[in-house]
Order: sequence, then C-alpha cells, then structure tokens
Amino acid sequence: MRKISVCVTPNLLPLYKNDNQIVVVVDVLRATSSITAGMASGIAKILPVATVEECIALQAAGYIAAGERDGKMVEGFTLGNSPFDYMDEKLKGQTIAMTTTNGTLAIHLSEGAKEIVIGSFLNLSSVANYLATQDADILVVCAGWKGKFNLEDTMFAGALVEKLQGKIDVDCDAAVSALYVYQAAQVDLMMFMEKSSHYRRLKHLDVIDDIAFCLSVDHFDCVPVVQNGKEIVLKEL
Ligand code: MLT
Repeated sequence: MRKISVCVTPNLLPLYKNDNQIVVVVDVLRATSSITAGMASGIAKILPVATVEECIALQAAGYIAAGERDGKMVEGFTLGNSPFDYMDEKLKGQTIAMTTTNGTLAIHLSEGAKEIVIGSFLNLSSVANYLATQDADILVVCAGWKGKFNLEDTMFAGALVEKLQGKIDVDCDAAVSALYVYQAAQVDLMMFMEKSSHYRRLKHLDVIDDIAFCLSVDHFDCVPVVQNGKEIVLKEL
C-alpha cells in the first residue's frame, strides 16, 4: 500500500527525501496560499526562488518580483506575500518570480522529488483528490518557520492525512501527530491558529484578513505543480 509521511520542518528533509515520492509543500501562512490564489486567478507561471538576490536578478531580466522577508514585502518588489496581491486581474497571464522566508525555500529544498505539488487549505480537496489517483508515496513538507516546527502547516498536513486515510497507509508518527493536531483544530481553525507564533507576527503587520482567507477550505479547485524543476504551473487534470 502507498504511504503518506509528514516532514514537520525542512531541516528534517534529509531523513525523508527520496526521488520516488510526490512531495506536497505547504506554507499556509502564506506562501503556498498566495501561490494557489495566484494560479487559480490566472497567473501563468510562478518561479519560486530561495533568495532575494535570485529574485532581484530575475526582476532585472523583466520578471515581476514578489515576496517577503519576515512577512514584509521586499523593498523594490512589485508584490508582497498577501494572497490578495496575487488575485489581481492585471496579473492574468503574467510570470512572476517569488521568494519568501520559508515557503519558496521549502520548494527549493524539495527538488529531486518525483513531483512537487503546492498545497494549502485553499485547495485541500483538489490536492487530496489528485494524490488519491497517483501511484507514488506522498511526503508532506511543512515549510515551518526558519527551520522550526509550526502549527498551521502541521494542521494542513493533518487535514490531508485525514482526507487520504483508508486509501493510503499512515506509517509515520509525525503524520499521526499531524492528524491529531488537525482533529483538535478543525472545529475552529482560526481560534486554533491564534495560538501560533506566525499569527502573532502577522497580527503585528495588520494582515489578519490574510490569515482568515488562508483558512478558507476549498476556496479554489486547482493543483499547482512545479514543472521541469523550475516553474509553478497549473496541473491539467
Ligand atoms: C514564508 O514563506 O515564510 C511566509 O509565507 C511568510 C509570510 O507570511 O509572508
């Protein structure tokens, strides 16, 4: 039977990595939510890069630069990391270069997987339905915060485990723990989220609306994937 595992921080990736599994990268607050919102709203491609320097180089080459450090838009960039920034009509058909503190780094560190899928609460069921039809093992990579565990990505991992339970073997303790976290949180995701460190960080930046939006389960029906190890596009289903 296929297996699902959860890597609760990219720092643990060397323990889980193999090239036969599909990786689902999640950064609920906010990178993978923003990517999902942008792709569902008509952005053609997003190039996720690990560093600000790489993003600046792509900006100089004509790309729209997007992203944040410590939650704040990088100076000189066109977009920050709010999902609402990415849902702009003007971005339809455009290609964007994006760098974030943890999310795009986790994508970069997952390179070499059989496939990399972008997951968030916004497209939870679409991702789960897609994974259910595939034949590889699954690894959920939580972006965390600067190498540390975080609550919101683990909540998402648990939600995905719950959706796939029965079809896919839950063989790792982190996946079991994530499921328990989600089951405790699901009655009121926002109330649970208020206990997270990134909630406090974003509250200081006055972007509570972003958090509420990032918790809208199944707002979009789409599966963004990394194509050719380079750019995020929508999977044709
Ligand atoms: C990240 O990649 O660390 C986040 O998306 C940070 C943020 O909320 O902007």
